Amino acid sequence: MKLAVVGGGSTYTPELVDGFARLRDVLPLTELVLIDPAADRLELVGGLARRIFAKQGHPGRISWTSDLDAGVDGADAVLLQLRVGGQAARQQDETWPLECGCVGQETTGAGGLAKALRTVPVVLDIAERVRRRNPDAWIVDFTNPVGIVTRALLTAGHRAVGLCNVAIGFQRKFAALLGVAPQDVLLEHVGLNHLTWERSVRVGGEDVLPQLIAEHGDAIAADLRMPRALLDRLGVVPSYYLRYFYQHDAVVQELRTGPSRAAEVAGMERRLLAMYGDPALDEKPELLAKRGGAFYSEAAVALTSSLLRDTGDVQVVNTLNAGTLPFLPDDAVIEVPASVDARGAHPLPVRPVEPLYAGLIGHVTAYERLALEAATKGGRDRVFEALLAHPLVGQIEYADRLTDDLLAHNREHLAWA
Ligand code: G6P
Ligand code: MN
Repeated sequence: MKLAVVGGGSTYTPELVDGFARLRDVLPLTELVLIDPAADRLELVGGLARRIFAKQGHPGRISWTSDLDAGVDGADAVLLQLRVGGQAARQQDETWPLECGCVGQETTGAGGLAKALRTVPVVLDIAERVRRRNPDAWIVDFTNPVGIVTRALLTAGHRAVGLCNVAIGFQRKFAALLGVAPQDVLLEHVGLNHLTWERSVRVGGEDVLPQLIAEHGDAIAADLRMPRALLDRLGVVPSYYLRYFYQHDAVVQELRTGPSRAAEVAGMERRLLAMYGDPALDEKPELLAKRGGAFYSEAAVALTSSLLRDTGDVQVVNTLNAGTLPFLPDDAVIEVPASVDARGAHPLPVRPVEPLYAGLIGHVTAYERLALEAATKGGRDRVFEALLAHPLVGQIEYADRLTDDLLAHNREHLAWA
């Protein structure tokens, strides 16, 4: 089984490699190729990846290259975890929207749109090259914004599934609080990528969410940095990305005063890369746990295994709506539990979604559609429309100014601008 990782030079990669090493029974890799334009990073990350495999006695071969076509050749699955423009572009996404009093974040609001515009054409080009070499290969997309990128891939007819660690993070967190094994916790997770709610938490067929909130509401709320009372009132657990909606003004204030996440991450990355260069290091360093991607290796291993080994087990993924949420177009991409086999992801039926959540889901779905149009076709008007349609922008004056700012900060990455 051969796997290729595009964006393999990411400082996150040792987390992934550690998962491949630990979970080799679930996903028996024989070959792993790390692909990245940054040759210097590949040397550091690839060297550590080999030491992790060696320490854990994994027999798989690890190599690295900056040649995408050669790297993906013969791959059964290709994981995408790239970041167009690196942390420098993220730093921009997180700052210029704040000047308008809007959220500055890499997946939500105007910053998220900028990331989508930079990323979609690059990902589509990669997917096309993968398909040309290996028409049967699966693409597992971690590249943000995952909802829009996955929709782009599926619209272009690629064999793709989008993945995020929010659901698996909740599953692990709740399992620990309840003192049960993670695989015994089933989430009723619904929404779009980075716009989801846990509506029930089943253990042995019983919904334990009311008990979970009653007994551990403070801990859960503290993690999400949302008020405990919200969990009690709604009886659901929103993902922490809902803060950008439910506490918009407070979050903008906070983002304006603190250092950006991009700056924090850039600092961590420098330290991580220095560590990776140490030939004595043969495991993922503790510092990596401070990144947001906890458990993403477990999610990647599980999903890839289901696709390549045709297991039909249930995982939370990003895939086509196809009638699952009847208030959304069939070609929207949703994030829900799905059974996953060699034919792809098949969403399980979803109970009717309450207006409290359906409204926002519908609104953001329309934005995502317009964002995809802007990303694939370009043009100032399309960018403006996507922003006008976004529930966190929505006013002409802001949409106009944010469009100008977005274009000014991203010209080098946008072929049409
Ligand atoms: C979570 C999200 C990812 C996002 C990451 C950011 O894991 O699900 O989509 O990329 O956080 O983490 P970072 O450490 O880069 O801020
Ligand atoms: Mn995510």
